[in-house]
Amino acid sequence: MAQLIGGIATSHIPAIGGAIHKGLQKDPYWAPFFDGFPPVHDWLARTRPDVVVMFYNDHGLNFFLDKMPTFAVGAAAQYENADEGWGIPTLPPFRGEVDLSWQIINTLVGQEFDITTCQEMLVDHACTLPLKLLWPGDACPVAIVPVCINTVQFPLPSAKRCYALGKAVGDAIRAWDSDKKVAVIASGGLSHQLDGERAGFINKGFDLQFMDSLLSNPEWATQFSTTELVRKAGTQGIELLMWLAMRAALSTGASPAVRKVHSNYHIPISNTATGLLALEPCD
Ligand code: DHB
Ligand code: FE
Repeated sequence: MAQLIGGIATSHIPAIGGAIHKGLQKDPYWAPFFDGFPPVHDWLARTRPDVVVMFYNDHGLNFFLDKMPTFAVGAAAQYENADEGWGIPTLPPFRGEVDLSWQIINTLVGQEFDITTCQEMLVDHACTLPLKLLWPGDACPVAIVPVCINTVQFPLPSAKRCYALGKAVGDAIRAWDSDKKVAVIASGGLSHQLDGERAGFINKGFDLQFMDSLLSNPEWATQFSTTELVRKAGTQGIELLMWLAMRAALSTGASPAVRKVHSNYHIPISNTATGLLALEPCD
């Protein structure tokens, strides 16, 4: 059976792509963000996943307001990047892992999640930047399965539902008939709000409590409605739903506990409180 080796959560912000493109990783503005990654690179060099399941939110690229699935799973052989144009100018397509896609799709539908399956899917900065941050070299060594959660148009799925989705994805990975190693990634958050009267809103106290809860009490955030989470973390900070899904994927009935590999938190990059968290399951 496949091995689920761990999970990583990271913020995504299009400007990170611009910084990578311009080689600004050591610039004083960017260093506190990029300096968080080497311990996670070391962990990835040791654990060497073959495949990544990417929980992320599309920002109006592949899905627009006219057609907005709550949950969508990619089942493509490759994924082309397209974006707003603030990031890395061009990226080669990312390799899909179609067999795992269908394993996840079949498991989710079997567990009564009504998902959208996408045999063609464009991916934006939320899917591509974590891959570039975690594997900075030219060629991306992992194949991907994108799992998209709607955080851009209300009604949004609840934290409780995203936790359940993550758990089901974890079940699917562990039951996959393959000798491959799989990591789960969450792309988004932490607190930020890009528009409206509260533009620029950041909530460090909540972010740190949330990050801590993923270790000590992973279902803590599921007590909150999406409206409450938007109040606490901002309209776009609700992207923290990805972190919950990633964390849930690492829980099994037998062993819900995880060990922290590394974390980082830095305010701000652009308008966002950035977080990084790498976790591995306890045996
Ligand atoms: C920013 C953050 C995001 O999550 C995003 O998708 C776009 C922009 C920002 O802080 O600039
Ligand atoms: Fe975003």
